Amino acid sequence: MNIFKPEERLSNLLMKFYITTPIYYVNDRPHLGHAYTTIAADVLARYHRQKGDEVFFLVGSDEHGAKIEEAAKESGYLPQVFCDQKVKTFKKAWQSLNIDYDNFIRTSSQIHKSAVKKTLQILWDKGFIYKGYYQGLYCRGCEQYKTEDDLVKGLCPFHQKKPELLKEKSYFFKLSQFQDELIKKISKNEFLIEPEERKNEVLSFIKRGLKDISISRQKVKWGIPLPFDKKQTTYVWIDAFLNYLTGLGWDGDPAKILPRAKSRGKNLVPNLQFWPPDLQLMAKDILRVHGTIWPGLLLALNIDLPKKLFIHGFFTINGQKMSKSLGNIIWPEELVKKFGVDGTRYLLISIAYFGQDGDISWQRLTEKYNADLANGLGNLLSRVVKLNQKLTPYLTRGKNQKYIPNIKNNEIQKLFDEVKLKEILDQIWQQIAWANKYIEKKKLWELVKDKKEEAKKILIELLSLITEISETIKPFMPETSERIFKIIESGQIKKPLFPKISG
Ligand code: MSP
Repeated sequence: MNIFKPEERLSNLLMKFYITTPIYYVNDRPHLGHAYTTIAADVLARYHRQKGDEVFFLVGSDEHGAKIEEAAKESGYLPQVFCDQKVKTFKKAWQSLNIDYDNFIRTSSQIHKSAVKKTLQILWDKGFIYKGYYQGLYCRGCEQYKTEDDLVKGLCPFHQKKPELLKEKSYFFKLSQFQDELIKKISKNEFLIEPEERKNEVLSFIKRGLKDISISRQKVKWGIPLPFDKKQTTYVWIDAFLNYLTGLGWDGDPAKILPRAKSRGKNLVPNLQFWPPDLQLMAKDILRVHGTIWPGLLLALNIDLPKKLFIHGFFTINGQKMSKSLGNIIWPEELVKKFGVDGTRYLLISIAYFGQDGDISWQRLTEKYNADLANGLGNLLSRVVKLNQKLTPYLTRGKNQKYIPNIKNNEIQKLFDEVKLKEILDQIWQQIAWANKYIEKKKLWELVKDKKEEAKKILIELLSLITEISETIKPFMPETSERIFKIIESGQIKKPLFPKISG
């Protein structure tokens, strides 16, 4: 079953879709925020696979830098051992959320480290890097350099900490050189940043004047040594950005990234044909670096820029920032335990507009679960299946192929292209609400007793709608979709799709 008509599938067959999430700092424990971006990316990857596109979905872990060095020290383990342990919690979390990625790239892996060294050597040889002296503020939480303007009452707004003053020898990347080209590419949407307000934010930042950036650290040992000065290690962001290339198997040679058409049939790393990324997801905390340093590096290397960055909002819990000190962090495993895998996936995507901030609480999540999943979809399915059983013989999919499609595919496709994920679910749930009301209006439970032919017609209509819904929700809730198909096929329902939960 596919939601697309054959001719639509055909025109899409040769499309490729490369999607990435940020690589999360490995010292953290995967929380709701990480899960949010990763589930969204998984939904999009699954949708494109379902559509017939060739998909590469990359996730990974950011393992170098001052923050991780410090966390490893505190734990008493060597940094590599520390990272090896921590990375398992991310892999486990993604498995428990049914994240179907194509590769998990670690920045401490050999392939990544060697490509980073090669890249730096190229940038040095091309004259894009020079030696200097860095003096300024640095937030270790963000692993980012800060200006006075970035701070709120002297503190980093993301970490509520005073940045440290750094004074050290450092190497610099000539980012300023790319200011005009970046303004041009971003303004013309050749390097698309969405939503629009995020694009404007980056543009106004660049227009205030792009400075060269420090790309090495003298005192941080846990990092990739610069190939031309072994006393310095690579600034963690330069190291991290390259994951989007090394995750495809890139070895650091820009000549190997040929446009897809030219690289076909050549003996190159096959996955490099996915370059450039079609969509890179992240939240606003890392927009500025992704809108400046990242494309700047690619321009210097003469590699095509990603097609689109999509910046989603931040989740707060009961109006407050999630934080360890407030103890209000929600962990994905708690969500899965309470709402199930698909329940969690549904709730996170449907609770806030992707691109806008969202506030959640256990109470809101529970209410939404009961309203939309237990009473909405679950109830519709069980009512239809049970009413159907009152017909003799009752309808099953095999015997009644002619279910009429109800959801407008083009509209859904457009919403997917615009990354309007909540809007898709809202539209589907409107259909569910309609169907539940339709049963009431028609008093279907009476028709199945004494007007069987009319009841049959309505049930075919409803079963068609549910089949269609089940196909459309597949990228969001793969297991549920599968279960619904089986139930409809057999005409039997043994237990509720989503049992009601309290408190
Ligand atoms: N390691 C860097 C990224 C390097 S990518 C080349 C980093 N890691 S992080 O662990 O701090 O992850 C930041 C990302 O986590 C955000 O951009 C977002 O995708 C996700 N989120 C973290 N907290 C979040 C919320 N409270 N709400 C929504 N998403 C959040 O930065």
